[in-house]
Amino acid sequence: MIKRDSVELIDTHCHLNDEQYEDVAAVIERAWSAGLVQLINIGYDVDSSKKAIEQASMYPSVKATVGIHPHDAGTATEAALEEIESLATAESVVALGEIGLDYYYDNSPRELQRKAFRRQMALAKQLQLPVVIHSRKATRDTLEILREYAPLQGIMHCFSGSLETAQICVDLGLYVAFGGAITFKNAARLREVVAKVPLEYIVVETDCPYLSPEPLRGKRNEPANLQLILAKLAEVKQVSLIDAARVTTCNARTAFGLD
Ligand code: NI
Repeated sequence: MIKRDSVELIDTHCHLNDEQYEDVAAVIERAWSAGLVQLINIGYDVDSSKKAIEQASMYPSVKATVGIHPHDAGTATEAALEEIESLATAESVVALGEIGLDYYYDNSPRELQRKAFRRQMALAKQLQLPVVIHSRKATRDTLEILREYAPLQGIMHCFSGSLETAQICVDLGLYVAFGGAITFKNAARLREVVAKVPLEYIVVETDCPYLSPEPLRGKRNEPANLQLILAKLAEVKQVSLIDAARVTTCNARTAFGLD
């Protein structure tokens, strides 16, 4: 375990704005005790983006992102996008996201997903904000759209693709984020990718309340569990826990333009 004050940690992707966190103050307190100095609270629609900003104004360690997730692309009306644009100017907002494509669940028609994604990529460019990208079973179309807006600043969230795709993301300017999935017993292939992506391009995230790392799989996740993900990353990369923490924290600061 990393001791508080030995190194600063950043959870680059959490959803404190999720309704499962009625005890958000205690969750943030436990994160602080586990060495987390910054929690990036990710919006996924207008309401959750508003809530992310609200929580950021209450807790100094919390920063917010605003955006409409591909699941909710059907709600990305002109009015909703205008609202995201105005929310994006709040001081605590560090990125546009999470935005992208999800052809696994197909909760919104793909054409609408691509349209909402392009609109928000253009908005991020216009506002000079980094992006947090969600892509599931949609690599080809995601990369095609990302290329239209390159060079990029930001993060490819919850990465589970090939080494080749990771390389393309890095070339476009993104950091590659790994989370609880790298601890799963059946994730040997993903760990092979982790082993080959240079640490200089990796950030860590919990995606809480989802995707709890082993041995907590199936339970509600929270930012303090980032320690378990970092421990696995250090093991796979064959570096010390302190070095894994130091480099990924530095990467997270660069990705979001934090001090
Ligand atoms: Ni997420």
